[in-house]
Amino acid sequence: MWAALLPVGRDEATGGYHRFAWTPPELECRAWFLDEARRRDLEVEHDGNGNMFAWWLPEDGTRGGAVLTGSHLDSVPGGGAFDGPLGIVSAFAAVDRLRERGVRPVRPIGIGAFAEEEGARFGVACLGSRLLTGAIDPARARALTDGDGHTFAEVMHNAGLDPEAIGPDDDLLGRIACYIELHVEQGRALDVPVGVASSIVPHGRWRFGFTGEGNHAGTTALADRRDPMLPFARMVIAAREAAERNGAVATVGKVNVVPGGVNAIASSVTAWLDARGPADDAVRRTVKEVDEAARVAARPHRVSVDLAEESYTEIVDFNLALRDRIGAALGGAPVLPTGAGHDAGVLSARLPAAMLFVRNPTGISHAPAEFAEPADCLAGVEALTAVLDDLARG
Ligand code: GLV
Ligand code: MN
Ligand code: MN
Ligand code: MN
Repeated sequence: MWAALLPVGRDEATGGYHRFAWTPPELECRAWFLDEARRRDLEVEHDGNGNMFAWWLPEDGTRGGAVLTGSHLDSVPGGGAFDGPLGIVSAFAAVDRLRERGVRPVRPIGIGAFAEEEGARFGVACLGSRLLTGAIDPARARALTDGDGHTFAEVMHNAGLDPEAIGPDDDLLGRIACYIELHVEQGRALDVPVGVASSIVPHGRWRFGFTGEGNHAGTTALADRRDPMLPFARMVIAAREAAERNGAVATVGKVNVVPGGVNAIASSVTAWLDARGPADDAVRRTVKEVDEAARVAARPHRVSVDLAEESYTEIVDFNLALRDRIGAALGGAPVLPTGAGHDAGVLSARLPAAMLFVRNPTGISHAPAEFAEPADCLAGVEALTAVLDDLARG
């Protein structure tokens, strides 16, 4: 099962994955998901937001009180093999194990594949689960654009979905009793095969726009330039400094320089800031200080600066009762916070959610070196099986 996904969207030169929502590699992953569901005779459901579900229903056809597990199939640019797919492959494997053991669930067990979790195409992380839970205004989502200027509405339409139908789905949410997401651990926080998440730190994304004036690199005197690269460069350093002052982390990992000529002063620069920290105010202060530094640096160069918040997620404390129940089903497991965002965090605003983490020996994620040992992945499947078995009984 895992082997079928491995080549999809993989750049042979770097080993990194490029599976952006509704691009051919991600569509191939979606087809794989539907095929795995069909092979197990699971009932497939598509919501209006591009999320997919595969349901194992109890014999009496009960649809409410479902236990949902799953993750996402999309990736960051040049991402690893495990972030997302591990949770979905493990979910199918856990269903297989439960069936082999003759378990007959009294509530539905579902496998969910959430759309655009990384926000790598349209900028907003966890877009599918945000739409489902009402955490983002559908009109705003429709107008989001990708790097080629295609709107989310356009892309949904081309994928055969009605962009006017996106938004919260209370009927679907009302049928889900809880969500359990298994995920590769993304730092160096876990030294046993499987752990349980306690919380997700506050995190968000901000877009800085620097507008100057395009001009010739050879004929324009320094005094005459309005070069947006200068305050942009200052902003990158300021992000590091502000994060250090505030006990946060801040990253500028994406920048778009227009027009991008070696021999041309840029006319504009767009740069994205990702900031996360232990508490709301540490993150907010970091962003404010970066913004101030950018504006101070822009003034002498007559460059304008604008700032937009693309997404923000407050601290997520996963449901304590569910966490305890999972801990008991596993016979104990370490509990750890994470600095990574997940659909489980977004869903936890509407229903009890929890996460299982599988050890990552490299401590690297969102990069090709992301890894989990096969034995640890199997331990993850066993853990998920035990948790689903416990929850599916009532
Ligand atoms: C998602 O993986 C994130 O934390 O950015
Ligand atoms: Mn990720
Ligand atoms: Mn993920
Ligand atoms: Mn010329």
